[in-house]
Amino acid sequence: MPNFPEIEKTLASVEASPRVIQVLRDLHTKALSEVPFVSTAGSTADALEKFVALDPDKCALVYLLLRSTAARFIVEAGTSFGLSTIYLSLAVGQNGGGKVIATENEPTKALKARENWRAAGNDIEKWIELREGDLRETLKKDLPDQVDFLLLDIWTPLALPTLKLVHPRLKIGGLVVVDNTIEAASGYADLMSYFEDPANGFKATTAPYSGGLFIAVHLGRGVA
Ligand SMILES: C[S@@+](CC[C@H](N)C(=O)[O-])C[C@H]1O[C@@H](n2cnc3c(N)ncnc32)[C@H](O)[C@@H]1O
Repeated sequence: MPNFPEIEKTLASVEASPRVIQVLRDLHTKALSEVPFVSTAGSTADALEKFVALDPDKCALVYLLLRSTAARFIVEAGTSFGLSTIYLSLAVGQNGGGKVIATENEPTKALKARENWRAAGNDIEKWIELREGDLRETLKKDLPDQVDFLLLDIWTPLALPTLKLVHPRLKIGGLVVVDNTIEAASGYADLMSYFEDPANGFKATTAPYSGGLFIAVHLGRGVA
C-alpha cells in the first residue's frame, strides 16, 4: 500500500478510536491512490467509480472547526463513499450528539458509504441520516430547526441551490465550508455573488488549501 504522510498528519489531529482511525486511514489511502477527478458540471461515468474525497488536511480542519464550534447539526452536500461524513459524525458524537444529514444520488456510492460507516462502528453510524437521491429534492424538507454547519463538496452547479435550501435554517454563527473554490472559481461565480451580497449575511475567507477552501460565517441578514 502506498504511504501518504499527509494521512498520518491528519489522523494525529483527530480524537478517535483505533477502529475509526484505521477506517479513515484505509479510505484516505484509496482516495489518494485514485487518478484525480475534477468536476465542472453534472456527474460522469468516471466520477461514479471515484471517491473524489475531501483532502486529508481539509478533513482535519473541518473536524477541528466542528469541535471548536460544538456543532451538532450538520448538512453534507455530496457524500460519495462517506469519507468526510465520518469526520462530521465523529465530531457530532464528541460534541454531545446530533445529526449529520448526508446526501448522495448514486445508489452504488450510497451503498458503499453505508458499508464504510458500518466498518467505522455504531458510534459513527448512529448520527448519520443518508438521504439518497437528488439533494435539490431530498433537502427540501425535514431539515433540523437549526443547522450549525454546511459542507458543500458537490458539483459546482449544485452548490448555490443547496445553500439556498439550507440558508433559512443556518444558525447565526453557523459555518459553510466549500471545497475547491479557487480551482473551480468560474463554476462558483453564482455562489460567490450570493455570499458577497450583504443582504445574505455572510462574512468569509479563503484558506489556501489545495484548490482553495472557502469558509463563511453566517452573521445574519443584512451585515454591513
Ligand atoms: C466531491 S464528491 C463528495 C466527496 C465526499 N464529501 C468525501 O469527502 O468523501 C460529490 C458527490 O456528490 C454526488 N452528487 C452529485 N450530484 C448530486 C445530487 N444532485 N444529489 C446528491 N448527490 C449528488 C456525487 O455522486 C459525488 O459522490
